Amino acid sequence: MKPLKHLPAWKTLEQHHKAMRDFDMRAAFREDAQRFDNLSLRCGNLLLDFSKNRVTTETMQHLMQLARESDLEAMRAAMCRGERINFTEKRAVLHVALRAPVRPPLVVEGVDVEAGVAKVLGRMQHFVESIHNGSWLGHTGKPIRDVVNIGIGGSDLGPAMVCHALDHYAVENLRVHFVSNLDPAHLASTLKSLDPETTLFIVASKTFTTLETLANANSAKAWLLAALRAPAAVARHFVALSTNQPAVEAFGIDPDNMFIFWDWVGGRYSLWSAIGLSIALQIGWGNFQALLAGAHAMDVHFKEAPLEANMPVILGMLGIWYANFWGTDTYGVFPYDQRLRLLVPFLQQLDMESNGKNVNRANKLVNYNTGPIVWGAPGTNGQHAFFELVHQGTRLIPTDFLVAAVNHTPLADQHEWLLANCLAQTEALLKGKSRAVIEAELIAQGMSREEAKALAPHKVFPGNRPSNTLLYQKLDPHTLGMLIALYEHKVFVQGVIWQINSFDQWGVELGKQLAPPIRAALSSVRVIGEHDGSTLGLIADIRRRRGL
Ligand code: F6P
Repeated sequence: MKPLKHLPAWKTLEQHHKAMRDFDMRAAFREDAQRFDNLSLRCGNLLLDFSKNRVTTETMQHLMQLARESDLEAMRAAMCRGERINFTEKRAVLHVALRAPVRPPLVVEGVDVEAGVAKVLGRMQHFVESIHNGSWLGHTGKPIRDVVNIGIGGSDLGPAMVCHALDHYAVENLRVHFVSNLDPAHLASTLKSLDPETTLFIVASKTFTTLETLANANSAKAWLLAALRAPAAVARHFVALSTNQPAVEAFGIDPDNMFIFWDWVGGRYSLWSAIGLSIALQIGWGNFQALLAGAHAMDVHFKEAPLEANMPVILGMLGIWYANFWGTDTYGVFPYDQRLRLLVPFLQQLDMESNGKNVNRANKLVNYNTGPIVWGAPGTNGQHAFFELVHQGTRLIPTDFLVAAVNHTPLADQHEWLLANCLAQTEALLKGKSRAVIEAELIAQGMSREEAKALAPHKVFPGNRPSNTLLYQKLDPHTLGMLIALYEHKVFVQGVIWQINSFDQWGVELGKQLAPPIRAALSSVRVIGEHDGSTLGLIADIRRRRGL
């Protein structure tokens, strides 16, 4: 593997960036009436407008050349064939196999992966329908009215995000809740309004060893048993989603109440697997299938469209352009869609756990920036909080704006204002407002020339700031599936360019290892252990507060 910075296209892009330093998007729009047409793309009902970026068609050609020299197409094929591209964990990466509607056999190392997927989906469908039609009853004979998904990270963020996004598709008479935090407040506040006789717990954990999930699941079990006073109740009120059957059984859940998935499903890519059970319970089986179908449509586009007309590739390569050539550190995501309020936390795990890496596939430290800091919030709320920095701060921040053409909740003309605000923000980022215009406005309003001169610099919008706009018809299951898969593949593209393994997560391990001795030191009189001065000071303070 040739080092990234030695690739000819990288060197070309370095030169090209020098020539682009003073590129002004406003002039580019003035000079090229076709700019929007040339730098936008449709896939199904999704429109990606990337014309408000510091790029020309030449920039895009160089970026696509970098993708080719990075063997993106071969890596994509290797992923879809089920090669063990997650080489540090020796695992295949096959979330795309979870959402193919027609399932020709996909034999990976002697196992028909698609047959296994179809079997689990069949069991999930049966279970979902039995909850919905009331044939699955709680221990005391009452139908299930509340479902609590207990999981964290990928076993929480994906399903929670989708359930919030599609709450307008929710079936009647069933509420789905999510508990993830180790903080007992999360479980306690959720249980407060629930009736043990009509509550089902889904324990969602790929490994079934995760501290937070097992702690919450044990507390939930104790709550249930305290109320129903019969160990047999667990069988009617607990199901598990996991790859680890022995641990599920050790917890006390019958394997008949377990929905399996496989080590080739990464946690942050798992909402399409059994981990999506809470989604199917909330929106019904047909809508869950529509979600999978939307993701599959994006998979097909990703696999078949030429790189130049490939949405995940374009989004991914634009991110490379800013992170590696313009030196941006962060990337903002602003869904103008309240239902997508959990998209940012979901993308934070998807992107940062995948591409927050500093060692490449040749096991060497990289000498360039990898995954950006992902942040954001729904519009218009973000406008009244942090947009000041996006417009007038000293940092260049690439951004994605997402918005539906049509709202499911047509209250008065609020959606028109939402759309208008979304477009206005990207227009403001692009156009800015010059000092001369502001001074003239202030003088016209009656301000003296001196006062106007002093105030104007504070009111200047530099403009020429980049944004992508993703416009979709309305937020339905199919569209949401497409959007999520779009971001999954974008993250894959960037990982390939950066020559890193996007599918492991060793960076989460150290903190987990250090927690048990600290926990012991907090309460035991004798054990303190070896810690740095700061940690020792904090432990001592906590112990003092406890009178130890
Ligand atoms: O600690 C990080 C992590 O392993 C994530 O990658 C994963 O999504 C999450 O914890 C939960 O893991 P599990 O599903 O095994 O409980």
